[in-house]
Amino acid sequence: MNNLILIGMMGSGKSTIGRAIADKLGWKHLDTDKMIEDMQGMTIREIFDRYGESHFRSLEAKLVEQLKTVESAVISTGGGIILNHLNTMVLREMGLIVYLKANPETLIANLEGNTNSRPLLDHQDIDVIFRVRNPLYLNSAELVVDTDSLNNQEIIDVISHHLEG
Ligand code: S3P
Repeated sequence: MNNLILIGMMGSGKSTIGRAIADKLGWKHLDTDKMIEDMQGMTIREIFDRYGESHFRSLEAKLVEQLKTVESAVISTGGGIILNHLNTMVLREMGLIVYLKANPETLIANLEGNTNSRPLLDHQDIDVIFRVRNPLYLNSAELVVDTDSLNNQEIIDVISHHLEG
């Protein structure tokens, strides 16, 4: 199916880049975190605080199931979506998975002052999360974009070229 799915760590730019590419392609933009918040009528932080991470993960998995039939969408995913192998399998069937790869230093800089919606960072170190997840992102993605030295426009260009080629 013809979708573009952005994966990567918190602060890697999945939402911003996703919105911009969707505009460029004339596709719809979906953001899994935002969809979960809208469906639950709660913020991600409230869901984590009230019901815990595992509940959030099951909401995330249910949403991925519901997205199966989506067409012509750019989907910005929550950073932990690849922790569930079933999610990755479904997303692969849906389209091209792109990993926006950024080193922890870049992620920390990008997240500056914007960790309120990232409850995992209350107790976990971004370096540790990166070390655990980087192999999963690499295994899941068809295209890996090293974003550390690229600006948003350059990232969009790399992805657009890949789609055209
Ligand atoms: C998470 C990333 C967040 C959000 C939740 C958990 C993660 O999304 O889904 O806080 O496990 O990395 P972003 O990647 O959009 O910050």
